[in-house]
Amino acid sequence: MQHILEATSLSPERLARVFTRAASMGNNGYRKMLRGKRVALLFYQASTRTRLSFEAAIKALGGDTLTMSEMKQFSSNAKGESDEDTIRVISSYCHCIVLRHSRAGAAERLAPYSRVPLINAGDGNNEHPTQAYLDLFTIWQAMQAGRLPTNGLNLLFFGDNENSRTVRSLAKLLVSHGPTLGVRVKSMAFCGPNGFAVPPEDVSAAIGHSCELSLPAKPLYAGTDVVYITRPQREYHNGKKLVMMPFTEKMANALPEHAIIMHPLPRTDELPVEVDANPRAWYFTQSENGMLVRMALLWHLLQQ
Ligand code: CP
Repeated sequence: MQHILEATSLSPERLARVFTRAASMGNNGYRKMLRGKRVALLFYQASTRTRLSFEAAIKALGGDTLTMSEMKQFSSNAKGESDEDTIRVISSYCHCIVLRHSRAGAAERLAPYSRVPLINAGDGNNEHPTQAYLDLFTIWQAMQAGRLPTNGLNLLFFGDNENSRTVRSLAKLLVSHGPTLGVRVKSMAFCGPNGFAVPPEDVSAAIGHSCELSLPAKPLYAGTDVVYITRPQREYHNGKKLVMMPFTEKMANALPEHAIIMHPLPRTDELPVEVDANPRAWYFTQSENGMLVRMALLWHLLQQ
């Protein structure tokens, strides 16, 4: 039994197999792969993409879902039941648990209470492994299509790098798993509002190098292959006012033609809708990939 608690929970070789399978998930041969399997979707924190793409993935593979959103309000958590007891009980009703929680470290803390694989669907500002898988899959896909160079990518993380779980998971995954998948990184630059530009210490340590840029210079855009934008994660700011400049159409046009713009979504003002028509905008392709990658991951975890 394998839990997915952080992006590196799957080995690079296993992630490569998930990607190969995700790339072929459009074909109908997979329709019954999860027949007879139930997956519980437990969300203590708001979600659109993660919850519904998991649900769509499970249904597309012929499986069933037990879904509970707003766990704090509608589960027996509201009566004082511990998360540990909740996981222990629910894991006896299903074959896999997908858990989103507002507390960093919740997935790791609760996994020992689960008798079935537990997938971290985002825990506070810590990790979001399946988002990192679909993000890396999107970069890998762009590379397979000949869109991105194979001799080393320059990435720009633009936004609230300090508090973003998607940045933490993706940056670490790129370094640890990218090479096995043929995704080589030449440089990663981090820019964002003062105090929020630089990722936390553990991410910098994993990457080995980083640079802080509060206002990126134009030449940086010209050499960038992938821009990864994140929204201000206000839920972790404790009321601190954060002013973030948007990634404008002008900035998008300063990128090379082959560059791709990514965003895990949801977006707020940091990514104006005018950028959507830019041929470099890949964020909706990215969210579409979420269902395919989650289908492949569930197949991988539940067929063993
Ligand atoms: N990217 C992401 O996790 O989106 P949701 O919060 O809508 O699930």
